Amino acid sequence: MNKDIERVLYDRNRIAEAVESLGKTITEDYKGKTPLILCVLKGAWIFHSDLIRAIDLPCDVDFITAKSYGMGSQSSGKLRILKEPDISLEGRDVIIVEDILDTAVTLSALIHILSEKQPGSLKIAVLLDKNLGYEKKVKADYTCFKVENEFLVGYGLDYAERYRSLPYIGVLKREVYQ
Ligand code: IMP
Ligand code: MG
Repeated sequence: MNKDIERVLYDRNRIAEAVESLGKTITEDYKGKTPLILCVLKGAWIFHSDLIRAIDLPCDVDFITAKSYGMGSQSSGKLRILKEPDISLEGRDVIIVEDILDTAVTLSALIHILSEKQPGSLKIAVLLDKNLGYEKKVKADYTCFKVENEFLVGYGLDYAERYRSLPYIGVLKREVYQ
């Protein structure tokens, strides 16, 4: 898989530092609370599993599966919920954990759907926030890295289901998806 990567953006140590630091911030912000930390599958699962262990609070975890991309590298503009959370969100302090904020189609649709479940509060933590050169309609409350508009894989992020297991975040060579 390494041969398909143009360059490594963040290696495992950089990622671990950023996730550790985000865990500390969330620990401070949610002191005295028991947040429900909701992983958006599949892309966020590695980030989520590291993040929950960096948060020094009692917390519940759950998963939601949403798909906007299909097998390509462009957003389809539509979101399908394939798996709902098992735990009731009502009155809970929910933190949505997502891999990347790109066009924000996924997160804005998710927020709409999850708000109807009447959480006590709803915040967003993303590993990566892509700079598209314009303001998005959704802002992340917590971000590990701000990145340029390139197609990234690794640490959970895929292209056509491949590369998720890379321990770093890298830029995929254009020739792989063009
Ligand atoms: P959005 O709806 O355009 O914000 O896209 C969000 C979803 O698209 C993410 O959850 C990812 O699954 C996928 N995505 C967007 N950009 C990338 C990327 O650079 N690499 C891998 N997946 C991406
Ligand atoms: Mg994906």
